[in-house]
Amino acid sequence: MTKLPFNIPTLVGREIEYMTKAIENSHISGNGEFTALCQSFLEGQLGRGRALLTHSCTGALEMAAILAEIGPGDEVIMPSWTFSSTANAFVLRGAIPVFVDVRSDTLNIDETLIEAAITPRTKAICVVHYAGVGAEMPTIMAVAKRRGLKVIEDAAQGLFANRHGRPLGTVGEFSAFSFHESKNIIAGEGGALIVNDRATFPRAEIIWEKGTNRAQFKRAEVAKYSWVDLGSSFLPSEILAAFLYAQLEQGEAITRRRLRLWRYYFEGFAHLEAKGLVSRPVIPRDCEHNGHIFYLLLTKAERRDEVLRRLNERGINAIIHYVPLHSALAGVRFGRTAGPMPVTEDVAARLIRLPLHPQLTHEQEDHVVAEIERVLALAAA
Ligand SMILES: Cc1ncc(COP(=O)(O)O)c(C=O)c1O
Repeated sequence: MTKLPFNIPTLVGREIEYMTKAIENSHISGNGEFTALCQSFLEGQLGRGRALLTHSCTGALEMAAILAEIGPGDEVIMPSWTFSSTANAFVLRGAIPVFVDVRSDTLNIDETLIEAAITPRTKAICVVHYAGVGAEMPTIMAVAKRRGLKVIEDAAQGLFANRHGRPLGTVGEFSAFSFHESKNIIAGEGGALIVNDRATFPRAEIIWEKGTNRAQFKRAEVAKYSWVDLGSSFLPSEILAAFLYAQLEQGEAITRRRLRLWRYYFEGFAHLEAKGLVSRPVIPRDCEHNGHIFYLLLTKAERRDEVLRRLNERGINAIIHYVPLHSALAGVRFGRTAGPMPVTEDVAARLIRLPLHPQLTHEQEDHVVAEIERVLALAAA
């Protein structure tokens, strides 16, 4: 039986060579040659803002929360359909995540519900671009401007994707990307903060360097460096930056490959959608996504466990996604919902994610489609 793992972290060429070079450079802590190369690459790719490499998207979100001056009792509006880090970054500052339902098409925050969730304590909106499909940024930015709120983009899954003609992560004041091994562009663990509000960049650099002005010292702008502000250790080592640079260089090719595989699945499941057995992802017309996740929504939530069990027994590692934050233990403790969450709850109960990584083949995708058709028939029997 062929085993099809959900993900295989895939090297694309020069990772080992660059990591060896980082070691030979005798600079393996952070903020060296490869960190600078990755940051320049990201700035060029995104075309707006300044980049700081971090040890994770989680770290980048934590930096954004400090930079947005989120404090105790502040409220931050966000979807519940996301990872714990989106909320934790703000909870760590004493803020309250206020969960809003998602749209049933893109599974991104429902922009029409944001205004009603705003209270006098609301300080920011944190948007998530689920599966590399951009959220409704023009509407969200208009609400934020009208109500004086900051916007942070959790673009963990969004590199090499565009919406409304702009790369994801270039619209809000800050955005955060992930290079975790589960993402399209990987470094094992890794992330980046993008500071679109350039006036904030000097402070961002200080927070990044443990609250010191070490980056200024490195550029010979100050004679010595010392503790000047809040901060933490957010830098990745040069060894990881070197690995990441090799991936970024091949980012367009990795994205093209994933999109080819994503579209093949999409066509492959058309007949099951036509029979009303599954729904496929909805990609808005003005959206160039990056093939990050291929998911299906089963028609009946009560069949999902059985479908997943049977697929995994057949070697196909299909999995669920988030437990909605508003229903999770810590979400109940630290956050609140702005209203009912019918779409989030429905989607969370019916969604399955299928194996998708650069080593997957169309033959394997054909096998997944055939097995899902077989398993759905068994589950319906
Ligand atoms: C939406 C979202 N935000 C943040 C993260 C955290 O990323 P990292 O593992 O790089 O900290 C994830 C991870 O899967 C995510 O899906």
